[in-house]
Amino acid sequence: MKVILLGAPGSGKGTQAALISKGLNIPHISTGDIFRDNIKRGTELGLKIKAIIDAGDLCPDDLTIEIVKNRLSEPDCKNGYLLDGFPRNTYQAVALDGFAAPDRVIELAIPLEKLEHRLTGRRGCLKCKSSFHIDFIGDRKDCPHCGGELYVREDDNPTSVKERLNVYREQTAPLIEYYDSQGKLFVIDADRPIERVFDGIRKVLK
Ligand code: AP5
Repeated sequence: MKVILLGAPGSGKGTQAALISKGLNIPHISTGDIFRDNIKRGTELGLKIKAIIDAGDLCPDDLTIEIVKNRLSEPDCKNGYLLDGFPRNTYQAVALDGFAAPDRVIELAIPLEKLEHRLTGRRGCLKCKSSFHIDFIGDRKDCPHCGGELYVREDDNPTSVKERLNVYREQTAPLIEYYDSQGKLFVIDADRPIERVFDGIRKVLK
């Protein structure tokens, strides 16, 4: 199955993607993770996009589309994919329809004013990549799952978060209508505990 997780920054796309990918046995492809991995490794791509990502703006469309197209042509995507963070605007969605149109699009819906708190309190694990929130783990510096070191994402500062939410409102939110008009949209209330959000998604993907 080809699935897109659509939602604002902090709506829980990465958190749910990890659960879905395991359950459906399809690869979780996050354009944000691909970009951050390139920044970490200091590749040419990473150097080109670091400032854009830190500021909370979108990376160039054609570059992003090319990356996704190449990734989806790899053998592990033969039975489907779970896209997280792509497409991000109508231009990218139209391009995706041209080479690997999704079967279902899951919107993680949550009032945007709740997201600044989620993002500025997020902690990620460098080792197992799990994501946590300080509301649940307090100020600990080690991962509750594997003991790895926890870090704060560069773009989780209040200024970048504001910009990311603006970009979502202006460029990504119109995709809700785009996919609804194709009859592919399923809306999940993401303002609930993680397990309950996942239960809702599971029903949609049955
Ligand atoms: P990307 O990595 O895609 O980031 P994002 O969309 O801003 O989303 P996040 O990863 O911040 O949030 P999430 O929805 O995954 O939430 P999470 O599960 O972590 O993109 C980063 C940047 O890359 C972009 O700004 C752009 O520059 C570039 N980029 C990426 N794709 C691009 C594209 N297609 N085109 C152009 N540029 C692109 O959860 C957040 C927090 O909430 C965590 O702390 C988590 O523990 C907690 N949480 C999750 N679920 C719940 C819940 N149900 N209840 C309570 N807390 C919860």
